[in-house]
Amino acid sequence: MSERVTIVEVGPRDGLQNEKATLSVATKVELIERLAAAGCRTVEAGAFVSPKWVPQMASTDEVMARLKRAPGVSYPVLAPNLKGYDAAHAAEADTVAIFGAASESFSKKNINASIAESIERFRSVVDAAKRDGVRVRGYVSCVLGCPYEGKIPVRNVIAMAKALYDMGCYEISLGDTIGVGTAGQARALIRAVAGEVPVAALAGHYHDTYGQALANIYASLEEGVRTFDSSVSGLGGCPYAAGASGNVASEDVVYMLEQSGFSTGIDLDRLIETSLWISNALGRKPGSKVTRARTATA
Ligand code: HMG
Ligand code: MG
Repeated sequence: MSERVTIVEVGPRDGLQNEKATLSVATKVELIERLAAAGCRTVEAGAFVSPKWVPQMASTDEVMARLKRAPGVSYPVLAPNLKGYDAAHAAEADTVAIFGAASESFSKKNINASIAESIERFRSVVDAAKRDGVRVRGYVSCVLGCPYEGKIPVRNVIAMAKALYDMGCYEISLGDTIGVGTAGQARALIRAVAGEVPVAALAGHYHDTYGQALANIYASLEEGVRTFDSSVSGLGGCPYAAGASGNVASEDVVYMLEQSGFSTGIDLDRLIETSLWISNALGRKPGSKVTRARTATA
């Protein structure tokens, strides 16, 4: 039996939050349902954040209400504070994600809070989630670089990852928000963080701005990480990280993993179909090399 690697599909959230076109609720719901039908067991469905800050996520309540949930599939949503958590809970989210940063400047720009303030806010979200039996995932942004501060000391990443883990997050997703990191840096980072947080609780979240994401995933795999976030068709970027391109494309990650002897449970052909469909809906070319190669005509 090949070893399992879990893909957290973040296209409907991390992808769509930064696409110029705003999709209808029906199209967002269809995207999430198609991803689940392709075999994705975790599909991040949206974000309960301020619509003034991220207008593309404003319809997350409607998306959650209309979504036909497939058995065995989890649909996390972002919840930056108690207001977001209450909305997520009202929408019957099974999992919420809190999102902090290893950079003070990014934390301020993204969630209008210092790192210390954010930890206090997150604690109230985690307490409420524990009370309600809702799982909480934690993100740390800027782990391999910040758009405002440049290089971030690894001790800052460790401190934030540990704070979120100790609070009760079941998994900590380490985000290379602006996609600048390299395999050597990713390897060193995972080694360092895994000294404080069990590697089984770490996930890699690599944006592909500099084309390094697959290499970073492979380096992280070699360090024992078995969960990676990716986005169908490589959708998106980050509204508070100018120039950041999308997450690594899910099709490319699935292809690399399956051809390297790991299993993902995801049907690559169906994922490619979904990638073509959403790219068409957004009026752009698929951001996945695998999808482009598989659909190229002579
Ligand atoms: P704030 O302005 O400091 O909030 O924003 P506030 O508490 O002062 O409230 C101001 C107004 O916002 C009030 O409304 C609140 O009700 C409302 P008003 O009275 O003015 O009409 N408000 C909310 N509305 C909806 N949902 C909420 C909410 N909270 C307050 N949850 C806040 C603070 C955190 C809300 C804001 O900064 C925000 O929404 N930030 C989210 C930014 C975001 O979503 N960024 C993208 C996701 S992070 C990411 O992409 C990185 C990641 O992918 C990993 C990686 O790549 O590194 C995860
Ligand atoms: Mg991201």
